[in-house]
Amino acid sequence: MQETSFDQLPEEGKSLLQAASDAKEHAYNPYSGFYVGTALLTLDNEIITGCNTENASYGCTICAERAALLKANSEGKRQFKAAAIVARGKDFDTQEVTAPCGACRQMLFEASQLGNGDLILYLATTTFDKVVVTSIQELFPLGFGPKDLGVDVRPYIKTSQ
Ligand code: THU
Repeated sequence: MQETSFDQLPEEGKSLLQAASDAKEHAYNPYSGFYVGTALLTLDNEIITGCNTENASYGCTICAERAALLKANSEGKRQFKAAAIVARGKDFDTQEVTAPCGACRQMLFEASQLGNGDLILYLATTTFDKVVVTSIQELFPLGFGPKDLGVDVRPYIKTSQ
C-alpha cells in the first residue's frame, strides 16, 4: 500500500480518479447522502464507471464498485487492470480515502481472476489531497474464488456472442 500524491500518479491513475470523481455525482443516495464513484480500466484501456444506487429497501443498495462491474459485464467487458474509487458526503469532503466494502472486495476479486490475477486500486479523498495505491490482492488476501470451487473461469473471459 503506497501513499502518494495525485501529481505523482501515472496518467492511468489520474484519468481513473477523475472519472470516478465525476461518476460519484450521479449517485442515487436519498438515504445516506453519500456519493461514491468507481472507474474501471479494461485491459484494452477503456474506462467504465459506476456510482452507488440506493433503495428504500436498504439491503437492495448497489455500491459504486459493483455497479461499475455489472455495467462493464453488460457491455461484454470482464478484464480489468485497475480501478479507482472516490467519495464525498452530502456536505463534507472525505478526510481519508474510501476503500471498497467487503462485498465489493469479493466482486473485485472475482474480476481479478478473469484478468491478470490482481487489480490495481487507486483510492483518493474527495479533493485528491490524499491518494493511496493498493491492489485487490492486498486488500483481500486469501480471497475465496473460483479455484476454491475447482472452477476454471478462463472460458468466461469473453461473453458469448
Ligand atoms: N458505498 C459504495 O458505493 N461503495 C462502498 O464500497 C461503500 C459504500 C455506498 C453504499 C451506500 O449507498 C453508501 O455508500 C453508504 O453506505
